[in-house]
Amino acid sequence: MAEDQNISDRLDPDELSSRLGTKIIGREIHVYRETASTNDIAWQFATEAREGVSIFAEAQSQGRGRRGRTWIDSDGKCLLMSTVVMPGLPAEDFNVLTVLGAVAVCQTLQDSCGLRPTIKWPNDVIVSGKKICGILVETRQDDNKAPGTFVIGIGLNVNLTREQLPKILRDHATSISMELGEEIERTKSARQLLRNLDSLYGNVKAGDLADLEQKWKKLCLTGGEFLTLEQSGKTYRGRVHDLDLRDGLILQLDSGVLKSFRGEHVSVVPDIEI
Ligand code: BTN
Repeated sequence: MAEDQNISDRLDPDELSSRLGTKIIGREIHVYRETASTNDIAWQFATEAREGVSIFAEAQSQGRGRRGRTWIDSDGKCLLMSTVVMPGLPAEDFNVLTVLGAVAVCQTLQDSCGLRPTIKWPNDVIVSGKKICGILVETRQDDNKAPGTFVIGIGLNVNLTREQLPKILRDHATSISMELGEEIERTKSARQLLRNLDSLYGNVKAGDLADLEQKWKKLCLTGGEFLTLEQSGKTYRGRVHDLDLRDGLILQLDSGVLKSFRGEHVSVVPDIEI
């Protein structure tokens, strides 16, 4: 446990919930002192009656990222949260929820911190060229075409210092406090994040994806450039043709063929493990 933990900055479920004003996201909030992964806890709550349940943890012992990676945090310095959603979309459309998480984080960084974030496809939120947040969306059902239950997991570096990052990540990751030069109140950011998630989710749940898509495209770093992608051990090179909420990134391969890549098993090359 970090010795310099500011106790007053501990997340508290009542403080997070008080006059939150959301319709679905955060209508039930739990805070864990430490857990393996907030995504695992969220899955334990994943029933229709508890859609929107939001799980926070001060620390994770087995935080996970995309593609089997580990997500590293520092006790009490990050926002580690997961929420359960049932938007009526097929499980294969998990991309929509990744985008929803990333756009909500960007809005939070813009509005409550004055930062200028962008989204690096598929799931990274970037500030000053460095990763500040990752999103991990999970589904657990065999039938990809059936309406899915999803857990959206968000790891946002809030008051993390450069020294608290593993050396290998120091040139590739950042935090809100590193960008602003001062620590911020995590509770305030957490409440703002819940509100932003809820507002975007309201439209998605009502079947309107246009608003989310428009916001996402404005924030996306990706567009028109040449990229190399790696998927299931194969490498693809081409020019970004389009971004689609459902289909993900559409690359025009050097052969001229259009190929779409959903985020799940894809990484942009070169890739740093953060
Ligand atoms: C990535 O960039 O690969 C995604 C990282 C997602 C990390 C968050 S932290 C809260 C939630 N619980 C987890 O175990 N992972 C996500």
